[in-house]
Amino acid sequence: MSASRLRPGPRRWAAYYRWTADRPPRELLLRTLDHIDWEGRGRRRRSAVELGFGAGTDTLELLRRGWEVLAIDGQEAAAKFLAGRVPARRRPLLTTLVAPMEGLELPPTDLVYASFSLPFCAPERFPELWATIGRALRPGGHFAGQLFGDRDEWNGQRPMTFHSRRQVEALGRGFRVELLRETEEAGRSFDGPKAWHFFDMILEKPARTRS
Ligand SMILES: C[S@@+](CC[C@H](N)C(=O)[O-])C[C@H]1O[C@@H](n2cnc3c(N)ncnc32)[C@H](O)[C@@H]1O
Repeated sequence: MSASRLRPGPRRWAAYYRWTADRPPRELLLRTLDHIDWEGRGRRRRSAVELGFGAGTDTLELLRRGWEVLAIDGQEAAAKFLAGRVPARRRPLLTTLVAPMEGLELPPTDLVYASFSLPFCAPERFPELWATIGRALRPGGHFAGQLFGDRDEWNGQRPMTFHSRRQVEALGRGFRVELLRETEEAGRSFDGPKAWHFFDMILEKPARTRS
């Protein structure tokens, strides 16, 4: 397999953004936004950190709903692609950061959203990233995103992060698990046919209890 398929470079990511730009917002994001009771959480504007925003379709949905978004991606091409899609009136709500997700410090936030991006974290840096996400969430805040399972076809082929179900369940400890959905199916990726194995997760960080 070529190096570009192992670790996609800027041109390949840019092609991926064009390929995905027309998709609707992901079901996981809509479910997170629609089914969680965001009411009664004060009048402060809700804030999200999105990791690996790609073409930015989900970023646009958050902005459309009035969220303040810190959108992070490792690719300059993603930032350029998103900048061209954000309506002028929504721009004040958006901060874009081009940086690797590994080693980030994140600001306090109501939602960390990572759609099909955390598996691209270097495996040895994943525990630190997961701890960073947990710290950034405000009490009552949510994480929503996917992790790749250990039976995903790319496991063993690419330098990415994969988890067994047991490991995913362990990551959910300390959170209220609102969704843990496992999918194993034959499908397609940008690179062609692929056997997918992944977990959709929505987790809530418990609110502080009064002592
Ligand atoms: C499969 S795409 C998903 C994009 C989008 N969230 C979606 O659901 O369509 C993964 C994204 O993560 C970004 N990414 C990959 N590795 C990264 C890293 N180490 N740090 C930050 N972003 C990374 C890529 O540039 C890409 O935009």
